[in-house]
Amino acid sequence: MNPSTLLASDREAVAGRAAADGPVSHGLEDVVAVASSICHIDGQRGELVYRGYDIRDLGANVTFEETAYLLWHGSLPRLAELGALAERLAEARALPEGLPALLATLPAGTHPMAALRTAVSALAAFDAHADDTSAAGSYDRALRLTAQTPTLIAAFDRMRKGLPALAPLGEGSTAYDFLYMLTGERPTRAAERCFDAALVLHAEHGLNASTFTGRVIASTLSDMYSAVSGAIGALKGPLHGGANTNVMAMLLEIEAGGLDAADYIRAKLRRRERIAGFGHRVYKVLDPRAAILKSMGEAVSRESAEGRWFEMSMRIAEVMEAEKGLYPNVDFYSAPVYYMLGIDLDLYTPIFAMSRMTGWTAHILEQYAGNRLIRPRDHYTGPFGLRVEPVGARA
Ligand code: COA
Repeated sequence: MNPSTLLASDREAVAGRAAADGPVSHGLEDVVAVASSICHIDGQRGELVYRGYDIRDLGANVTFEETAYLLWHGSLPRLAELGALAERLAEARALPEGLPALLATLPAGTHPMAALRTAVSALAAFDAHADDTSAAGSYDRALRLTAQTPTLIAAFDRMRKGLPALAPLGEGSTAYDFLYMLTGERPTRAAERCFDAALVLHAEHGLNASTFTGRVIASTLSDMYSAVSGAIGALKGPLHGGANTNVMAMLLEIEAGGLDAADYIRAKLRRRERIAGFGHRVYKVLDPRAAILKSMGEAVSRESAEGRWFEMSMRIAEVMEAEKGLYPNVDFYSAPVYYMLGIDLDLYTPIFAMSRMTGWTAHILEQYAGNRLIRPRDHYTGPFGLRVEPVGARA
């Protein structure tokens, strides 16, 4: 039925109800939806703070395990606390027995993010206490999910290549054990340090799309596996965590075609296409994580034969600033860093998830601790006053 055929009283009802809804915030932009003590972002100043500590300080001085402790507990660990956490994480890295067999049933060509989402969801079935949302139970789950995610990613990658999945060493840092499980070789100190710093930088970022998804699910008092599976699904999108893979695909396309990076970018902008790795909903200046990754990448590229990726990246950044006033985000420089570490492109987003598991679970713990069901409203734009016609008489 056309709205013009509505009764006058219905038309008034539509107008009245629309006015009562107030303005719609598309994309929830600038809406403050929860109070949280985990992370602060100042998008105008380019500041990122985890639990009071500036990301530059953390990126240079703490490990991923210290970061996890900080996000979960609110303070940096003392030596004994760090030792105990590292030990628990290392012990928890092994997968439940049935999990590799389940991964093996996935068809060839399954995207690693789809595999990770499936596997994390399946982990719940192997946990007799999956639905325990008490503080102690949830902390235990946060820790095990953080420990097992690297093992899942490495196992899936090796299995899809026809290689046997490797059991975790059960020692060393998350970065060290992951790189070992992925490649079968113990990583160099430099590779471990670089990868570890990337994990620290990706660990937490306020109420981004995936974290919000996780909190929404947790707010129904659903289990942590469900909340984190949903968060993985949100991270997968090209507007969120999926961007890092697309950055490297773009750099490779420029090189394979023998193209000039600046011309390539300008042509894309003329076609009004988005350039992966640029722009941000919150940052209006340079993302501080991008600045750290840039200098880290420069250092790595000096020691590798792959320095050209950084030169290309910097050229693209110049053009984007000049043409659009947009700055790189965290995904722009993490992509060439992972590439130089010899990691496959489609693993970049799962690696993001491996790190962000700490931030997601910290938020889910916070949500459980002070829960209120997250339930916003929508502004209805459809008709009112329609009458049901018999099925055979409908136009
Ligand atoms: N490439 C080209 N133009 C971009 C752009 C990009 N990556 N990001 C934003 N813009 C432009 C938009 O086209 C728009 O320009 P216009 O006003 O001339 O139309 C303007 O900047 C504002 O964009 P808007 O869509 O309002 O920003 P947003 O807050 O909704 O988008 C992102 C934020 C992250 C979704 C967006 O910047 C993006 O798509 N980036 C690429 C994907 C990416 O790197 N994601 C990872 C984020 S950490």
